[in-house]
Amino acid sequence: MLKEILKSKLSRFTPRLLGVEGGLKVFPDLASIKVYRFDPATDSSHKYDAFENIPYKDHSVLEVLQFIYENRDPSLSFRRLCTKGFCGGCAVVVNGQPVLACQYPAEKEMILDPHPKFEVIRDLSVDFNRLRPGYSSDSRAGRKGLTMIHLDLKKCVHCRDCIFICPVGVWQWNKEAKRVEIADPASCLGPSCRQCSDSCWKEAIQVTR
Ligand code: SF4
Ligand code: SF4
Ligand code: FES
Repeated sequence: MLKEILKSKLSRFTPRLLGVEGGLKVFPDLASIKVYRFDPATDSSHKYDAFENIPYKDHSVLEVLQFIYENRDPSLSFRRLCTKGFCGGCAVVVNGQPVLACQYPAEKEMILDPHPKFEVIRDLSVDFNRLRPGYSSDSRAGRKGLTMIHLDLKKCVHCRDCIFICPVGVWQWNKEAKRVEIADPASCLGPSCRQCSDSCWKEAIQVTR
């Protein structure tokens, strides 16, 4: 009976994550995950909760968060919206790198933090309309694994599409120079996003890590 309940709860993870050994269903690959927890309404500071033995192979970070929510801790707060890499709502930090959780493959060891630029609503959910006090792109510059963004000014026609499409405000309009510029590269969600480079009709942007 217990096995049947477990099987139905994990249905979205089968059959890729359940193997068979000696007639018993087992998890061949399991992850250790630490998740940032903070509720500004009740907590004076944040902490990390550890979740062990989490299925992760061939799953996105967002699917892993959904698994934790459904099977380990229903109080965990995170954003799950389009799940297609379009809305930017699932932006989180995985092992120090800002990414889109729905597009980024889960890893065996992960520390998950909220995006550093925005105020935390609860846990990994942030308010994209409010900057976190004290945030500056410079304070994160030079960190290992941060994204490289290249803008080819010879191709760019300064249409500003990239400013409007970026979910975390990497681009801005320079009034004096009358052109777009990269204002906050440390916020960039990297190749898991690429909304600016995919939508730039002049192919003027490259996003790499
Ligand atoms: S979308 Fe492309 S062409 Fe338009 S401003 Fe951005 S980089 Fe330039
Ligand atoms: S890849 Fe482009 S659109 Fe996505 S976060 Fe980075 S700068 Fe913004
Ligand atoms: S949920 Fe929309 S981009 Fe990930």
